[in-house]
Amino acid sequence: MNTYKIALLDGDGIGPEIMAEAAKILKLVAQRNRVNFELENGAFGATAYFSHGNSFPDETKALCDSADAILKGPIGLSHEESKRIPVDMQPERGALLPLRRRYDTFANFRPVYLPKDIAHFSPLKAEVIGDGIDFVIIRELVGGLYFGKKEIGVTKGGKRFVTESLEYDEDQIARIARVAFETAQKRKGVLHNIHKSNVLKSSVLWNEVMEEVGRDFPEVEIKNILVDAAATYLCLNPAQFDVMVMENMFGDILSDQGGGILGSLGLMPSACMGPDKAYYEPSHGSAPDIAGQQIANPYSMIGSVAMMMEMSFGMESEARNIWQAMKSVFAQGFSTPDLSRPDSEVKMIGTNGFGDLVAEELSKL
Ligand code: IPM
Ligand code: MG
Repeated sequence: MNTYKIALLDGDGIGPEIMAEAAKILKLVAQRNRVNFELENGAFGATAYFSHGNSFPDETKALCDSADAILKGPIGLSHEESKRIPVDMQPERGALLPLRRRYDTFANFRPVYLPKDIAHFSPLKAEVIGDGIDFVIIRELVGGLYFGKKEIGVTKGGKRFVTESLEYDEDQIARIARVAFETAQKRKGVLHNIHKSNVLKSSVLWNEVMEEVGRDFPEVEIKNILVDAAATYLCLNPAQFDVMVMENMFGDILSDQGGGILGSLGLMPSACMGPDKAYYEPSHGSAPDIAGQQIANPYSMIGSVAMMMEMSFGMESEARNIWQAMKSVFAQGFSTPDLSRPDSEVKMIGTNGFGDLVAEELSKL
């Protein structure tokens, strides 16, 4: 029997609640597939700062080092609350970016997926949605502005200034390009390369390397599109996209827009892949305003489990079953308060109830 160790980092806000549902599904998957998942919890995020004085404590680093895969919940506090933590220890800078850097998780897969039978969540008109929304954003995750040189100071004239650099070398671009072309090859053979080469030199190099790597994938058609135009097309005609690739900051912004056209960031799981290790996380934040109330939907957390099954453990058919189970719960009219208005016709259930129903549906498959 295969044994895999999975580190569970609950994170902050709604993290523990949605993680509990993901753990439920992991246990069920283990039983059904006769694999052994060793689940071990680690402190991470603002919660870890308050309990351990560090938002990414050494114990958690050791746990992640020894794990076969990492499942991470959302992190962060409200704007006001985060002032209780020194700027460099705040969970985004003190935990999340160091996690990404530690495992060099350069390839971030963010599926933007809404099958037709649950398309009612989307704010887009039915004629725009057509057969549903189904594309994947591939975001470079360990370069660009996020990790470039930073300088903060005061000019000779006494004015405060800041400089942040958008840095990439050709190897960093080539490796994400390869991942994107391979993904496009497995899907529809079309890759949208998102850039801003009419202004940014970083995009000029980015596009050059994309083109060079593209020569190894003659069957993939590359379509270059400016990032601002891409933002418009995501609303007007998302069906034209299948695989999109972009640098870190563009990916941060456009993937949230992806969540917007689905109707909620709560519908956005993701996978962050490095050369030796991967971690999986919802693309959304910790939603402190609704934490502890059992109203957050665990879809993005359970979807991240599905991605882990496929991408870390090669369990493709079980991954499909998990997606299917979540889809049937929605298709039966169930939803959680965070995704639906109280006056809508859905059968309202809590975080826990949603997880239970997904487990029930999964058991039938
Ligand atoms: C994301 C988040 C993070 C990012 C934050 C929490 C630092 O917005 O994963 O998209 O900007 O990458
Ligand atoms: Mg983001």
